[in-house]
Order: sequence, then C-alpha cells, then structure tokens
Amino acid sequence: MTTERIRIALQKSGRLAEDSLKLLKDCGLHVARSKDQLFCRIKELPIDVLLVRDDDIPNFVDSGICELGIVGENVFAEMKTGTENFSATVVERLGFSQCRLTIAVPENGAVKSVADLAGTTIATSYPHLLQAFLISHKITAKTLVMMGSVEVAPRLKIADAICDIVASGATLTANNLRELTTILNSQALLVR
Ligand code: PRP
Ligand code: ZN
Repeated sequence: MTTERIRIALQKSGRLAEDSLKLLKDCGLHVARSKDQLFCRIKELPIDVLLVRDDDIPNFVDSGICELGIVGENVFAEMKTGTENFSATVVERLGFSQCRLTIAVPENGAVKSVADLAGTTIATSYPHLLQAFLISHKITAKTLVMMGSVEVAPRLKIADAICDIVASGATLTANNLRELTTILNSQALLVR
C-alpha cells in the first residue's frame, strides 16, 4: 500500500519561517528540522515540508512541485503579476507576518508627492508591482531592480526613491527615508 504524501513549501529561514513553523506547531504538527535539510517530515500526518527561499515558493506551488505553500503576499503578488498563466491561488490569509510594500523617499528631498515620482529612478525588488502602481497613476519612472539592500540606493545616488517592504519602519528610519505611499498591504498566505 502506498500513502500519498502532500508537500508544503515553507521559508527556510527568516521572519516568515518562524511564524510558519509556529502555525504548524499550534496545529499539533511537529516538523523534525535541521538547517541544511531541504526535506522534513511531519510526524502526525503524511506531509513533507520543503524548506526553500521564500521567493521560490510561488513557483514551486504554481508548477506543482508542492501542493501547498506559505508565503508572503508581497512575494506571491509580485510573481503573479509578473507571470503569464500563473495558476496558484490563495487558500487562506493567515494574518501573521504583516508588512507593507511602500514607496519611500529621502527626508527633505525633492520628491514630496506621488506625482513628483515622474521622471525619477526607483530601486526595488518588486518591479512588477511597482510598474502596475506607476501605470495606474499614469506615472513614467525608471525602475532599478535590486535583490537586497534596496534602502541604500538613494544614499548611493543611484535612485531617487525606493519601493520596498516595511515592517517596523526601523530600516527606513536608519536610512533617512520616509514613506510616501503604500502600494500593497501584505500578510502570510496559504497558497495551493
Ligand atoms: C526587509 C526589507 C527591509 C526590512 C524592513 O528586508 O527589505 O530592508 O525588511 O523591515 P523593518 O521595517 O522592520 O526595518 P529583509 O529582512 O527581508 O532582508 P533583505 O532586504 O535582504 O531581503
Ligand atoms: Zn527582504
């Protein structure tokens, strides 16, 4: 007899990872886990946990490598917006790992309003969501794609603004940036 096992993709390490594992634990599911392990088994049910980078989770679920995933709405929405025929869907909004995708600008800089973004360069790891926002506001701006440390771009004078995730706001404050507008409110999602 073969038992069919379900695969769920979770973030390997990071803020979402802790919250995701806590959810499973609160459900009475125990994940035997070690850092360098890709696969873990859940003791109580025929579920395998795949520990990966959060950016890979939407693709893994969309392509059927995993049946389920827990991923931030920010990452999921970016992939969905940028992928043709994307078929992964949201099962449930989980309420944790709340943050927002925000456009931020230097304190006391030239950009005072959303309209002032016209003609600027905006650094981001979320080019598709940013582009959709700019189009809906009829703004033409340049996008500089960076995979991390986006907040340093204005100081390096390689961008006039950033579009990045804000949780506590500490990163913005530390880099003398202020929020101009929020383009997406995000939380953890269970996707299939
Ligand atoms: C995210 C985001 C900001 C920071 C915001 O980075 O890119 O840098 O968190 O959080 P805060 O408002 O609480 O300061 P993350 O930790 O995911 O690292 P990364 O930028 O290298 O992806
Ligand atoms: Zn990040």
